[in-house]
Amino acid sequence: MFFDNIFHKVLLPGTVVMVLLVGGCEPPPQKSQPSAQQSTQQAGIPKAKSGLKAPPTETPYTLAYFEPTLENPEYGTLMVNDHAFLVPEGVPRPSIQSVYLLSHWEIKPGESVLDIGTGSGVQSIFAAEISDHIVATDISVKAVETAKLNVQRFGLQDKIDVRPPGDLFAPIKPGERFDVILFNIDYPSNQYTQFWWEVHERFFAQVRQHLKPNGRIYYQIGDIDNIPRVKAMADKNGLRIMRLRMDERLIFQRAPIVFLLQSEVDVREQLRREEMAYERQIEVDKHRDGQVSAD
Ligand SMILES: C[S@@+](CC[C@H](N)C(=O)[O-])C[C@H]1O[C@@H](n2cnc3c(N)ncnc32)[C@H](O)[C@@H]1O
Repeated sequence: MFFDNIFHKVLLPGTVVMVLLVGGCEPPPQKSQPSAQQSTQQAGIPKAKSGLKAPPTETPYTLAYFEPTLENPEYGTLMVNDHAFLVPEGVPRPSIQSVYLLSHWEIKPGESVLDIGTGSGVQSIFAAEISDHIVATDISVKAVETAKLNVQRFGLQDKIDVRPPGDLFAPIKPGERFDVILFNIDYPSNQYTQFWWEVHERFFAQVRQHLKPNGRIYYQIGDIDNIPRVKAMADKNGLRIMRLRMDERLIFQRAPIVFLLQSEVDVREQLRREEMAYERQIEVDKHRDGQVSAD
């Protein structure tokens, strides 16, 4: 992880660390303001101050990390804007990839969400500002415990159901389907991490069974070299890439890439309806023009 690298290289362990990643003149964040209740629950967590400058996230989100303190030696604190996430050793902190995904998903009120590989719970916790029905899963026992802890600290237990640990869709109940599926797990980034393709292949093979009609998948896989293989997995499994977002300026941070995917069948049906509506409109226009010239 980029953060791990920077912290280990630049900072002395055990000190309070303040890193600000400044998003520049981006529009104000849409999903980043904690409610009054959340802020109160998070009292006592140190606020980030200007310190070591790190590369920008190129999103409306800032990241700031605080090392564990003597009072709370088990957990570091990762701030995403004003949201403080407790993260113990061994659980991935919200990263540039996390906030890039946060910036590119769209969830409408009333939609259900599945967050696979939830880690600290960051995607689910921001999604809960819009959706009341979120399921979070992770294969790691420690990540599940951490996500539960953060969900409780934000008081979101009624909205976010953190399932017992399990691989990909294993924690999902039979027949359970979602409007939106968020996916940001580890991914192949060099010759030693190619084994992650096997997990991503299985995700692509199974994901359609868990999507509601017209459901959407927001899938993060940093590394531009991975794009052709993602396209191949989408084609093989009846999914269409509807949108791809990346930012070359972040290339030195394993540039995050977010895909929006939908079922090919759904997309074709949608196109067919739009075409029919268009043809109906032409008929209406012709009829109206005929009447005008007769008049
Ligand atoms: C890089 S972290 C990302 C966490 C979070 N999604 C985010 O946006 O910050 C990846 C997470 O995926 C989890 N993971 C890895 N393989 C998994 C699998 N096969 N099924 C479910 N979760 C998995 C890891 O345990 C880890 O918590």
